[in-house]
Amino acid sequence: MVELASAPIGVFDSGLGGLSVLTHLQRRLPFERYIYLADTLHVPYGSRSEAEIRELTLQAVAWLHSQGCKLIVIACNSASAHGLQAARRRYPQVPIVGLVPALKPAVMQSMTKQVAVLATPATLHGYLLNEVIEQVAKPQQVTVHKYSFNSLVPWVELGMPNHHPAVTDLDHLLSELQDKKVDQLVLGCTHFPFFKAYLAQLIDELMTRQAMRKVALIDSGDAIAKRVYDLLEQANQLASHKERPRLQFYATANLPTTEQAATRLLQRFLPELGIDFFTLCVTQHRAVN
Ligand code: DGL
Repeated sequence: MVELASAPIGVFDSGLGGLSVLTHLQRRLPFERYIYLADTLHVPYGSRSEAEIRELTLQAVAWLHSQGCKLIVIACNSASAHGLQAARRRYPQVPIVGLVPALKPAVMQSMTKQVAVLATPATLHGYLLNEVIEQVAKPQQVTVHKYSFNSLVPWVELGMPNHHPAVTDLDHLLSELQDKKVDQLVLGCTHFPFFKAYLAQLIDELMTRQAMRKVALIDSGDAIAKRVYDLLEQANQLASHKERPRLQFYATANLPTTEQAATRLLQRFLPELGIDFFTLCVTQHRAVN
């Protein structure tokens, strides 16, 4: 039991998006040891086929399992949509937590009965989200508008530089939300909370000019951290380290660029976190390009 308590928590994403989930995990569980795996060789996942996403997800989970993780978080909505069930079937002895866009709270809070989900094509088509639409949104007569822009994930992967097509796409999104009377926007990709503050500021500016109504921005980061806490507590596996361990960060490609962008993204949320960066060489069956 004690041995498992000091084992690491594995966190996986196609790239840097899962770090937004890690910030919530670090807040609730600061003394856990984390191994983060960014599959930067294959990012973005969101426009890949279901079979490719499933295969890449299984490979990532297999590696985290081989590192002795006591719990694995698939911190990627796209990978969860197409790989979570298969991963749970293959590793029934390890708790695996996946992500689905936080549509339920959005449906409950909407006054206009119009909500939007911003996610990758893979997540928007996936079974997990569409099940929530059928079971939660439809019975409440809430319309769910789906949006996806190819620019957004690469923008975050670059550390969100000021000049990028994503900036125009987000302006376009906000005018769409206004037209459709949407009052809740679900950030259904783990890359997106990194621009939550930027979007909130844009919305505030437009509201001041009376060019927009209030739109709440919702993501699932904290709910996932709470779920992880509860699972570990129930299993008596919470770590008892006295200090915050350094983050072990593995990327499957482009380490120098990834290292720079990851450091930049995390600086605002976890300036005190020490990080050790490594390249994970993947050869064999992982190259599915
Ligand atoms: N961060 C991911 C998600 O939550 C995937 C982004 C991508 O690789 O397309 O969906």
